[in-house]
Amino acid sequence: MSIKATITAISHYVPEDILSNSDLEKLVDTNDEWIKSRTGISERRILKKGATSDLAFPAVQNILKQRNISPLEIDTIIVATVTPDMFFPSTACILQEKIGAKNAFAFDLNAACSGFLYALVVGSQMIESGSQKKVLVVGADKMSSILNYKDRNTCILFGDGAGAVLLEPSEDETFGVLDNRLYSDGSGKDFLYMKGGGSLNPATHETVDQQLHYIFQDGKSVFKVAVIGMADVSAELMTRNNLTSENIDWLVPHQANLRIIDACAERMGIDKSKVMINIERYGNTTAATIPLCLSEWWHARKIIKGQNIILSSFGAGYTWGAVYLRWSLDPPTN
Ligand code: COA
Repeated sequence: MSIKATITAISHYVPEDILSNSDLEKLVDTNDEWIKSRTGISERRILKKGATSDLAFPAVQNILKQRNISPLEIDTIIVATVTPDMFFPSTACILQEKIGAKNAFAFDLNAACSGFLYALVVGSQMIESGSQKKVLVVGADKMSSILNYKDRNTCILFGDGAGAVLLEPSEDETFGVLDNRLYSDGSGKDFLYMKGGGSLNPATHETVDQQLHYIFQDGKSVFKVAVIGMADVSAELMTRNNLTSENIDWLVPHQANLRIIDACAERMGIDKSKVMINIERYGNTTAATIPLCLSEWWHARKIIKGQNIILSSFGAGYTWGAVYLRWSLDPPTN
């Protein structure tokens, strides 16, 4: 019997402060109607004080409580993020210390908006190898820390948040993380990036003056490849697992733009009622969007044991991919 990894606890955290479209109207030349119709976003959350590990911490605390385990039982912590607390040590190490997971080894993974899927696959394979029993996979980003609130092309899109899951060996190999397909294409570096602060452009007065420490995105170019990438990889996973749109219960797409989500669902033939969407409340939280959706839906008792779920993402790099899950977690008790 082969071991499969399955999600045995799930949680999320978003900060309290809301930045609405009308708040943004005061900062840049934009309006609520444009933002809603072009992106589907109404508001996003902003962490005013603290760092990415402070977003991840409450989510992970909830997971330990939910599963009723000691932090000492955690074997591995993977944090997917593009907004680490600092370059080093890793945010995963900072989180490890915060939760007291003294027996875990911890590392960050950077695959931008596909970070959670990449981390989920890496974590699952550690479980499948038999070497790890409890792996925490976190997607967390404080996007407000790298946004230019004078650039209307980007500042309206993103928000702060975190989502996390605990992976453990599945008791039944027909449940859990059943298949995945991940892709990268480094030519995407010209369309979505943050050039300042790294070894290419170490921080200087000039790099700050040139605003290189902010996100840059050529939205139109990214939009086109995101639709094709997410739809194609999801279709590939459906075909090789003999899944039709009827026997997929949920599509969990990365939440970058409602129009991308709609186009992807349409190309997959999936009815909108089966697509998890919360972009209107949080915007694009980068590595957090997918676990944030899954967690909200599970807490609302909308995900049922045995359901087939496709997770699908596209992000900077370019990175993209899809994961096929069969849900094994019972609904929350309270
Ligand atoms: N408010 C008002 N007008 C805006 C605006 C804003 N916030 N941002 C841009 N505009 C203007 C542009 O200047 C442009 O004006 P022009 O025609 O006079 O030049 C017009 O609106 C259309 O801009 P465009 O960039 O073509 O809009 P779009 O329909 O492509 O939408 C994005 C822009 C960013 C929302 C969209 O391209 C997108 O979502 N891209 C992909 C994001 C993504 O998936 N990223 C990957 C994961 S992070």
